[in-house]
Amino acid sequence: MKAVTVQPMTAGSARLEGVDEPPESDGPVLVETLAIGVCGTDAEIVSGAYGWAPPGRDRLVLGHESLGRVLEAPAGSGVAPGDLVVGIVRRPDPVPCVNCGAGEWDFCRNGQYTERGIKSHDGYCSERYRITPEFVVKVDPALGQLGVLLEPTSVVAKAWDQIDKIGGRATWDPRHVVITGAGPIGLLAALLAVQRGLEVHVFDQVTTGPKPDLVQALGATYHTGNIEDACDQPDVVIECTGVGSLVFDAMEHLGPGGVACLTGVSSGGRHLGVDAGMLNRSMVLENQSVVGSVNANRRHYEAGALALSKADPAWLARLITRKVPLDHFADALARQPDDVKVVIEVGS
Ligand code: BGC
Repeated sequence: MKAVTVQPMTAGSARLEGVDEPPESDGPVLVETLAIGVCGTDAEIVSGAYGWAPPGRDRLVLGHESLGRVLEAPAGSGVAPGDLVVGIVRRPDPVPCVNCGAGEWDFCRNGQYTERGIKSHDGYCSERYRITPEFVVKVDPALGQLGVLLEPTSVVAKAWDQIDKIGGRATWDPRHVVITGAGPIGLLAALLAVQRGLEVHVFDQVTTGPKPDLVQALGATYHTGNIEDACDQPDVVIECTGVGSLVFDAMEHLGPGGVACLTGVSSGGRHLGVDAGMLNRSMVLENQSVVGSVNANRRHYEAGALALSKADPAWLARLITRKVPLDHFADALARQPDDVKVVIEVGS
């Protein structure tokens, strides 16, 4: 079968090649891949900056945002042939640590977790893959190809779960939310915020392209200026860019008792001048919290699937700004200015 593979930490090594059928050891559920979403992590892997091949191998099958159709599944597995499904990305570490042992692999403590398409376990960008029932999630058949948005939605469902848990340490009645970055993660975070009835402000740099309209169509407000000009003292900030200066902006302008959730993975090497004393002072005096959030466990996929099934499908469809056939996968990996979510069509 065909698969997109890469040699991790080697720039320009991505290629479409013939690989063996998925090993039975990956699980009894056989899935035909329909679509793969491309994100910043894939770009990093392809650029040679991130990623790990499976043990004893040089190459990794790429792809962690997936949509597929079940071909074979054992009775009682919770899925049946024909179901539209998404594969969970992370697998618990083998020890397992206390979190992985409790199904909270997104909170793995020892770093020995694996991630399909990212860390030491082949991904989903192959014509077929196998999986165990506990790592496969059904999506509403009415979503069709839009189900490929579930993995990034699970990431923001986890972010909201963290925010609610932390906010809930005192009476929690959030009203205003600032989201930095109008990429897929920022826009999906905004969708979940609007679904909660909150006033939502989304920040990005661009003034053209689909992002401003996508934000407005949600009933949120799009901004290109400074946080304080548009919404001073928000209850929640969700930082979706990983840009260091925005991370500190988010912390600085947070309201009393507010929660800033950081979701963007940044590269190191950039130094900023920060008034650490003032930042500490306001965080202490105003009970503010800053929390990092990565990945998602099964509960978050289920919450994400529910959020997508309640969303306007026409709006979700506008998030997918380019679709590229598998044979032209390289076009999907080359970023274009108006891209929001680019999808590789593997099957139909
Ligand atoms: C994926 C997560 C993953 C993270 C770090 C993100 O792009 O969506 O599932 O945990 O990268 O590898």
